[in-house]
Amino acid sequence: MEIAAQYSDDRSAPPSTLVIFGASGDLTRRKLIPAVANLARHGRLPKEFALVGVARTPMNDDEFQASILGGNGLGDLQQLAGGGLRYVSGGYDDPETYKSLATLLDELDHQRGTRGNHLFYLSTPPQAFSPIINGLAGAGLNRPRAEEGFARLVIEKPYGSDLASARQLDATVHTAFEEQQVFRIDHYLGKDTVQNVLALRFANSIFQPIWDRSWVDSVQITVAETLGVGTRGSFYETAGAMRDIVQNHVLQVLALALMEPPASFGAEALRNEKVKLLQAIRLPTDRDVADVAVRGQYTRGGTREELMPGYREEPGVDPLSRTETYAALRLDVDNWRWAGVPFYVRTGKRLPARVTEVALQFQRPPHLPIPGNQLTELEADALILRIQPNEGISLRFGAKVPGHSFRVRTASMEFSYDQTFREESPEAYERLILDALLGDATLFIRTDEVEQCWRIVDPIIEHWANDTSPIPTYEAASWGPTDADRLIGRHGRTWRTPN
Ligand SMILES: NC(=O)c1ccc[n+]([C@@H]2O[C@H](COP(=O)([O-])OP(=O)(O)OC[C@H]3O[C@@H](n4cnc5c(N)ncnc54)[C@H](OP(=O)(O)O)[C@@H]3O)[C@@H](O)[C@H]2O)c1
Repeated sequence: MEIAAQYSDDRSAPPSTLVIFGASGDLTRRKLIPAVANLARHGRLPKEFALVGVARTPMNDDEFQASILGGNGLGDLQQLAGGGLRYVSGGYDDPETYKSLATLLDELDHQRGTRGNHLFYLSTPPQAFSPIINGLAGAGLNRPRAEEGFARLVIEKPYGSDLASARQLDATVHTAFEEQQVFRIDHYLGKDTVQNVLALRFANSIFQPIWDRSWVDSVQITVAETLGVGTRGSFYETAGAMRDIVQNHVLQVLALALMEPPASFGAEALRNEKVKLLQAIRLPTDRDVADVAVRGQYTRGGTREELMPGYREEPGVDPLSRTETYAALRLDVDNWRWAGVPFYVRTGKRLPARVTEVALQFQRPPHLPIPGNQLTELEADALILRIQPNEGISLRFGAKVPGHSFRVRTASMEFSYDQTFREESPEAYERLILDALLGDATLFIRTDEVEQCWRIVDPIIEHWANDTSPIPTYEAASWGPTDADRLIGRHGRTWRTPN
């Protein structure tokens, strides 16, 4: 789909049924149903629309409705009244589940006019992905039921836990679905501010000439969370920061920020450029890992008033756990645009601020014709793309301080989404569900992207798994382990303190 259609404001879904597997779960209740309700409120869903939940928990249609909407009525989802909100209870590996589902989908197609358009959203833990795909194929639901209809598959993260398991999952997916039918989610790509990286770079001419090694000294990408693992301890023990954040969100943002200009924002053109960029990232060898990667785990910290437990004290976490809750990497991109520019990325839980940003730091001026030693005191110019919160962009530069002497101090120009635009940003899931209903895969991850991302993180995860030395620690509410400062300090740089 080309840019005009993709971003036109009259986008609305075709007649269709959205089928959510794992519909009794947390993501469905907290994100997916509110996203569908928002789409309805904004007039993006036709009256020929139905929603079917599938899970093992025994419920009838009314109980399902109550479980996802609380005590509230249909509210914005009025168009599902009269039999458009349904539930199928059954095991994910039981063929009967899919037979019942197929019968129900046929009924909805005839009674509500959903025209054989079916979007299957896998919102279960990943163990259930393959059984569901096989079950759908067994009932023939992997193919359109009507001549003009579609059958599409949305798959939640995590997509595998390493390259081998991602390939295995892909093999199952591709026995039943063509790649064009598959929509792999990274909800970061649904955020307006992530898409704004594309607008900034490719809808303007002034940034492109400085977007390379001649002007950029280094880039820092930060995905910082203040929260700990909360109740997700046992899940997090199987993931860690590299799998949970770096393999997907960090590398996706990095690819959009560094890729070459695509000829169009069509799904293939854009994803081709992302893959090329990911392929240019130098793969760490086992020997390099100590030089390019640092991990950490948070310990008890905070203030007397707000004392936060250490990771090993969290519910569901092994008291001797070696899972990393922090990761920092130096990445190198071996291509003409970026050769020699270091990319520092870091992510962690229990850091002092919740912030996601991309900061391009520019070269210092070669000569400053002003007296004194101000060149070294002055911070380097920087362009900071704030993904969340306080969504916006800052340009930091030196400006003359008013007065008789010629003093220069750091100043900045600010663009804030909130202040500039009156429109509310759609939630990421709202955008992504609508795109999948429209068949627009631009903001979804293609199979070769997934593979490339695992290739980058796998050697590091493997090295850490075999490393028996104590895992470095950092106090909760601090900016990570001291090893991370050494990683970036090796070449005379320091981490930014996001404000
Ligand atoms: N929650 C989030 O904020 C979030 C964010 C990003 C991505 N995700 C991803 O989205 C997916 C769903 O997340 P969620 O938080 O909704 O998960 P969840 O609540 O743990 O699971 C969803 C449903 O799947 C079924 N289920 C649970 N464990 C299962 C198992 N071992 N085998 C088969 N079915 C099982 C349960 O339904 P029944 O027992 O009724 O079948 C459960 O209600 C996961 O892949 C997760 O990684 C979640």
